[in-house]
Amino acid sequence: MTARLIVLASGNGSNLQAILDACADGRIDALVVTVVSDKPDAPALSRARQAGVEALAMPKDRYETRTEYDTRLGTAVVGRHPQWVVLAGWMRVLSMAFLSQFPGRVVNLHPALPGEFPGVDAVERAFHSGKSHTGVMVHLVPDEGVDTGPVLATVIVRIEPGESFEALMDRVHAAEHRLLVATLADLCSKPTPVDQPPTDLERTHA
Ligand code: GAR
Repeated sequence: MTARLIVLASGNGSNLQAILDACADGRIDALVVTVVSDKPDAPALSRARQAGVEALAMPKDRYETRTEYDTRLGTAVVGRHPQWVVLAGWMRVLSMAFLSQFPGRVVNLHPALPGEFPGVDAVERAFHSGKSHTGVMVHLVPDEGVDTGPVLATVIVRIEPGESFEALMDRVHAAEHRLLVATLADLCSKPTPVDQPPTDLERTHA
């Protein structure tokens, strides 16, 4: 069954574009139903419109608390019935007010390996770290931890001696596009957590 995806993106949306392209040519058996951005002028929203996908700008109101915003965001997303919620360059930490509505179904992309360089500017910090490599990960988001949660996939990206930050960033983005598409293709080829039939034990206790 073709999965319904909602993508949350705050910025350029190159990873969103990779998802849209892979859904269009069948590499991911899914439909992006809506792209939501907290930044009304995010290029990600233009990419959605260009692909004929609903583009929803949802900036946080200045008088709104974080919980109120996340509840409003969650209500908008729940109403569109996604199987998976994909954070592709979403730069707000989501609270349980949002996450508890999608247990086991929120997927985040981060440009670093597990436990390394959480938060913003991860590639820049890796570049200046003196390490020989960094990487990319895709993981589930069970709670408010920043770029933590059960890891679905990782790939290592070497930091080549003497390369520029821009060159490293380009290679990290290319690795992200491949890893995110491959991971979503895998997730969407299986029954989603909500689709799974109850176990015998659950049936007995129903
Ligand atoms: C990507 O590198 C993504 O991993 C990162 O934002 C960038 C968005 O690029 N996300 C984080 O750092 C999350 N902590 P894009 O808008 O071109 O897809």
